Amino acid sequence: MKIVYESCAGHTKEYAQMLGKELNLPVESLKNYKQDYKEVIYLGWVMAGMIKGYSKIKNKAKLAAVIAVGLLPDKEEELIKNNNVTSRFYFLPGGVDYSKLRWLKRNLLKAVGKNLDKSNPELAKIICNGGSLVALENLNEIIDYFKQK
Ligand SMILES: Cc1cc2nc3c(=O)[nH]c(=O)nc-3n(C[C@H](O)[C@H](O)[C@H](O)COP(=O)(O)O)c2cc1C
Repeated sequence: MKIVYESCAGHTKEYAQMLGKELNLPVESLKNYKQDYKEVIYLGWVMAGMIKGYSKIKNKAKLAAVIAVGLLPDKEEELIKNNNVTSRFYFLPGGVDYSKLRWLKRNLLKAVGKNLDKSNPELAKIICNGGSLVALENLNEIIDYFKQK
């Protein structure tokens, strides 16, 4: 088994590398994907409700799990449905690094931020100013599952 990811600003890559280290598995970006392992844990960042790269990888590998990295909480059901996810699914909180986003993505993200309910000031701040919610402890459930498997 190996870990494959697609990341735009680096937060998904960070999780992929942490998970690879914890589970002692090789890590590869989707761009360089080779069909050399039977099973894959896939991590993709969420853009406008879509798990980037998922439609590509799902036809090429047997997926042991799909991990979506995004910012909007409570959207898991929607993500599973809209992306037709049929594998084990996890959602992890990512982050924003405006220095790595071009004009179009910056504006799209600001539009996403407008849909946030005001009861989440921490998230609103990250979408406005940038910041990261990436933490090793967010991977605990996933690490436990794969260590017991
Ligand atoms: C253009 C754009 C659209 C986004 N749309 C969503 C979204 O629909 N749902 C969500 O949960 N997060 C959304 N996000 C937040 C990203 O998924 C989040 O910033 C993630 O950590 C990015 O991962 P990366 O750093 O690996 O690229 C969006 C971010 C950008 C830049």
